[in-house]
Amino acid sequence: MTDKILEKFRQLLVREDGIIESVYNFQACDKFKEIFDQCPGHKSFLIDIDINNKIILCVTDNSDGVRIKIGDKYLYIKKGPVYNEDILRNDIYPIFIQLLYLGVIFPSNKDILSYWEKPEDDLNGAECYAAEDQLVKSKYLGDIIEKYCKNVASAFEIGCNIGRNINYLKTKMGLSVGAIEISKYAIEQMKIKYDALADADIYIGNAPEVIKKVPNQAYDIVYSMAVLMHIHPDVKEDFWENIVRISNKYLITIENELRSSERNWHRNYEQIFTELGLKSIYSETLGHEQLLFGYQVRIFEK
Ligand SMILES: C[S@@+](CC[C@H](N)C(=O)[O-])C[C@H]1O[C@@H](n2cnc3c(N)ncnc32)[C@H](O)[C@@H]1O
Repeated sequence: MTDKILEKFRQLLVREDGIIESVYNFQACDKFKEIFDQCPGHKSFLIDIDINNKIILCVTDNSDGVRIKIGDKYLYIKKGPVYNEDILRNDIYPIFIQLLYLGVIFPSNKDILSYWEKPEDDLNGAECYAAEDQLVKSKYLGDIIEKYCKNVASAFEIGCNIGRNINYLKTKMGLSVGAIEISKYAIEQMKIKYDALADADIYIGNAPEVIKKVPNQAYDIVYSMAVLMHIHPDVKEDFWENIVRISNKYLITIENELRSSERNWHRNYEQIFTELGLKSIYSETLGHEQLLFGYQVRIFEK
């Protein structure tokens, strides 16, 4: 794998535009090898690949850098000013995507958590999740709960953001609700936007950590919608066990199980949760109408 990656980077340099060819070629390939050899075990490393004092290997717009894992060693590539937009877009980004897809490179857990604590792009702000057109997702959730979950009085969302889903479940279906969310800002907005959630039981923090504070079998339904897919591959196994532990009756996952990308890791939740003793009672791949095209819905019973 290492050779393949180095070859891809080397291919980048077969270009006509002078200085980038020689300097980048030398810095990228040789330095990579050198640093890997010095890097003990799983230690991260910072590398700046610079041309005229500028970092050119800027691989993504919205995280601080990427960590490259090759074999059992890691290399952290720091984000810096883009030397040349065209190079970034045409050469580096496609390779980055390919490596992400293969699971060869990924941002560190720290980068991912700080992204979610305060997303600075327009994609994941609290306002996006409260938009009118997003209600269709909450309604879909309510519908499958009504159809497949019997005798339930409470629901707990992992990663609720501003709380659109729990607000719906409380106000339209009369469930008592709680949630975990890492973004303090989203929870502040929740308190402003949804009066009904004033007394909801909200745990603010990183889900794999704060879930430990939630009592056993505390909620009839535990669910996630587009959240478990953002949990970093370094997560400890006990996270999945804790999800099962806090559910009294059902678990619902609505997640992208197919693709990995810079903040998304695909997993087979059926395998994870049936191995922990849950029974799979429903599965569906969503279409366009629920705004979660291609996502896999799974309902498990305890
Ligand atoms: C794609 S949004 C989905 C929001 C909501 N479930 C919905 O469908 O509208 C992902 C949410 O999960 C939260 N999140 C991501 N990683 C988290 C973590 N490790 N712990 C707690 N919340 C997290 C994010 O802050 C964000 O609010």
